[in-house]
Parts: sequence; structure tokens; C-alpha cells
Amino acid sequence: MPADLNPIDKAKFAAAKRAVDFVEDGMKLGLGTGSTAAWMVRCLAERVRDESLRVTCVATSRRTADLAASLGLDVRTLDEVKWLDLTIDGADEFDSNLNLIKGGGAALLQEKIVATASDQMIVIADAAKEVAQLGAFPLPVEVIPFGWRTTKALVEETLVSMDVLGRDVSLRMNGERPLLTDESNHILDLHLKRIGNARQLALVLNQIPGVVENGLFIDICDIVVIGQPDGRVSVRDINTGRVEDDQVPLAPPDNIFADLE
Ligand code: 5RP
Repeated sequence: MPADLNPIDKAKFAAAKRAVDFVEDGMKLGLGTGSTAAWMVRCLAERVRDESLRVTCVATSRRTADLAASLGLDVRTLDEVKWLDLTIDGADEFDSNLNLIKGGGAALLQEKIVATASDQMIVIADAAKEVAQLGAFPLPVEVIPFGWRTTKALVEETLVSMDVLGRDVSLRMNGERPLLTDESNHILDLHLKRIGNARQLALVLNQIPGVVENGLFIDICDIVVIGQPDGRVSVRDINTGRVEDDQVPLAPPDNIFADLE
């Protein structure tokens, strides 16, 4: 690990490194997207190299697929692999039931498909991602470009009857142009501040024509691994109720990270 990482990145690295311990030889794995997931891909590639593990990977974005392939991981399409043993991904927020907001990196659609096609989903995060109630992070909603303004108006109308604190909706931009996802869709960010009933909101948003998927992951995540900058990690399993505290060595530089130094 590079020595000069900031505390948040050290925490993300610690969570990622611990989560990769769940990987077993022969597994079919979903690889998430984002900065925490990128650490996980690097740690996974290190284990695969050092232990000669045979794992098959499905990425949740072109970015992750490119990184994983560049590190020598076997990356296939979900259609080739069909069902996965485990997906490890980051999150923008998680609550005590391990319900999530995802999509800060605009990859929520593939992320939700891949996580849902997995026996188990592990979320890796720094402690700042834990919230008492979801909604401070703007909720990403993927919409098709055709008629997106109408879809936005329908989303705004829908929010009037929802238990939320804010109702502003913005189109995510990439410089001067609307952002395009890997599926060539747009992202609406819903500035809700507090979501009273995330399950209901997730269902209602997906009824709107033009909405492809929303970034609420309800009852999908099984385990969260929370990292701290000093390498401490906490592993919480929502199914067993078990909580384990652990310490991850913040390892010396290794050539799997050489391009980051
Ligand atoms: C991408 C995501 C990411 O997992 C989420 O945005 C967290 O990112 P990071 O690990 O960089 O904080 O949902 O669509």
C-alpha cells in the first residue's frame, strides 16, 4: 500500500483487504466499482497471484473490468458466468439493516444486477458511510435519455407523496454534457436529505416509465466490512448478527500497487 495515503483511503484499503479474506479458490466473484472497490480488486489480484487462486470475475463497470484485467484477473461477462458466489462492492451510505445507497460512481445498474445475481454481497466502507437513516447522500436514479425531462418531472411529482425531507432533483453532468452511464443512460440525483421509507421509495421509483433502476439496495447486502485509518476493521453479518473486530496490517509497498506510488 502506498505510504502517503490519506486517512479515508487507508480506511477503505483496510476494509477492502479484510473483505478479500472471504474469497475462496474456485469462486465466481462480482467486482464492485469505486475507489474502495478498486482497492479490493488490487488486494484480490495480490491474493490470486500469491496463492495461485482460480477465481472468475464479473465486473460492474468498464472501469473495474479494465483494472481487473490489467492486474491479470479472469474477467467474464455475467451472461457467461450467470450466477456468482460473492460480490464485494463499496457504498455511499449504509444503515443498521445494511440497506444501502449506491451509484455515486454512476454504476448502480450493473452493480445491482451483479449483487442480486450473487449468493452473498459484502459491502466495504470507511466508517463515515454509516448513517442512522439513509438520504443525506443524494439518491442516484438511472433514467433513459429519451424524454428524461418528462421522467424527471414524474420523479418530482412522485416525491411529493413520499416521506422524504428534500425534493430537489438534478441531472448529473460530466462537464458541459449530461453524464452517460456504461449503459448510455443518464443519472438523476435526488436530494432527499432523509428517506423515511426506503423500501417503499425504491419500489415506487421503479414504477415510473423512463426509470431504469434506483440506487437503493434493500435486503441485498449480507455483510459490511468497516475500515478505520489505523487498519482496524469491523465485520458485521446481518444474517447471523455476528460482529467481529479485527486488525489488517497496512502492508509495505508491493508491486501490485506499483503504479500508484
Ligand atoms: C459506484 C458506487 C460506489 O460503490 C460508491 O459510490 C462508493 O464509492 P467509493 O468507494 O469511491 O467511496 O456505488 O456506483
